[in-house]
Order: sequence, then structure tokens, then C-alpha cells
Amino acid sequence: MRIEKTKESMMAFLEEKRGKGTIGFVPTMGALHEGHLSLVRRSVKENDCTVVSVFVNPTQFNNPEDLKTYPRTLDADVELLKGTGCDLVFAPSVEEMYPEPDQRTFDFGDLETVMEGAMRPGHFNGVGQVVSRLFDYVRPDRAYFGMKDFQQVAVIKKLVELLNMNVEIVSCDIIREKDGLAKSSRNLLLTAEHREIAPLIHQAMKQAVAEHQTQTVKETIQKTIDVINESPLLEVEYFSIVNDRTLQPIEKWEEAMSPVGCIAVQAGEVRLIDNIVFK
Ligand code: PAF
Repeated sequence: MRIEKTKESMMAFLEEKRGKGTIGFVPTMGALHEGHLSLVRRSVKENDCTVVSVFVNPTQFNNPEDLKTYPRTLDADVELLKGTGCDLVFAPSVEEMYPEPDQRTFDFGDLETVMEGAMRPGHFNGVGQVVSRLFDYVRPDRAYFGMKDFQQVAVIKKLVELLNMNVEIVSCDIIREKDGLAKSSRNLLLTAEHREIAPLIHQAMKQAVAEHQTQTVKETIQKTIDVINESPLLEVEYFSIVNDRTLQPIEKWEEAMSPVGCIAVQAGEVRLIDNIVFK
């Protein structure tokens, strides 16, 4: 497994592979866990060459404290990747990725005016900046993203459409801890107390799905928020039930084929997100 820190060396390595088979790509911000590894394994299975990027992208953080404390564990990440069949790790510096500030703005339309887009202004624009750069350098046939970041997947599909890029976006199921908490690099930052209570988020959402046929959308939302907020350690920032394609909130169950409940919860200093499909 190669580790490259510059675009030139990474692209030179890939030039030898290109044309001989497909290139799969898993963009990450590091602090890898089983969720990322499942994306990497899927890419290894489906492609001839797999590239993983590890880069904490400053332009997608709207909160400087969050950027400062985001876990950076490159050595451990490389160790974990060694067992997956990944061919190349691209771990650039900020200067390497942004020799000049990126001034581009993307118009993701209504996809970015709700939920994460509304709560984290500029976040998806920053994701668009880094992902489009990474796609330009790696030029993958397929790129793999986890559905925990449900809205991000929709935004990236839109990005590919806006920029007319020739890459298939593959979305993969959420990987959970045994107690149901969605795997996230941010889980590492939870205090022991917050880690213990955090599975309540998924439990409450599962309960919402189980009960939803006898409740209105509004009742389901309120009940879920109440169940979680009952814990003094958790505070729901939003819980929205949205149309799976437009990401706009629905008022009646019939407004979407597979409505998705999306949640953001503050657990002490850590902000967690998760989602569930109402089937
Ligand atoms: O999902 C992430 O980890 C990041 O948003 C991504 C896609 C790697 C872009 O920095």
C-alpha cells in the first residue's frame, strides 16, 4: 500500500493503473472506523484499484473549535487500511490541497437550505470544494460514501451533475456499534457519560419508525425529540422527516415513498447526526 502526500506523486501512481481497470475512491477525513473500512472493502471488491484520501478539510468547518478538535490519527488510519486491500492512501497537507483559497460557490438549490445546510452555513460548499478537487485529481470510476451523511450524499450527487463529472456515486448503509450508535469519528470525542447515553438517539428513532403508522408526522417528530431530550445529557438540534429525494420536510406520510428521519443531537461538546428510513 502506497502513501502519497502530493498530488503529483499520487497522480503518477494512478496513471499506471488507469486504463488497466476501474479506480474506486473513498474520501475521508481520517479517524477511520468500521464505517469507513466497510466502504473501503466494498471499493476493493468492486474495483481494480482503491484510493483512500485522508484530509481534514478546513473549508467545510463553520466552527473553528470543531476544526481544531477534529481527531487526526493518520498513523493509526494507515495501519487499519493495511488490512483492507487499499492500494493508495492520499494524505495531503492543507497547502497541497489549497495552494490558493478556493473562491468557488456551488448552487445546490434546496438540498442545502435544510438540516445540516441550515445549521452549518457554508459546510456543503466546503464539501463541494474539496470533493470536486479530489475527484479531479483521482478521477475515480466510482466513489463511496456512507449514508450516515444522508444529506451529503444528495449534495455530492448534485455536485457531480453540476460539474458534469463522470463518476458513479455509491451510497453505503450506516454501520452501527452493537448498541445502535452510528459509527462516527466524533464518537471518539464523547465523554464516557455521553457515550453511554448516545445509543438513545437510534433507539428513539427506531421507536418512531415502529409507531409511525398510528401517528402524524408532527406527533412522531415531537415524541422522538421528547424521548431524547428527557436525558439531561442530550439535546436535539433538529429532527426532520423529509422526502428522500428532495430532502424537504413532509407533513403527511404519503408525501414520500420512503421518508427519512434525520437528526442532529448535541451530546456535551459533540454534535452527532444520524438518520433512519420510515418503511
Ligand atoms: O464525509 C466526510 O468525511 C467528508 O465530508 C468528506 C466527504 C471526506 C469531504 O471532506
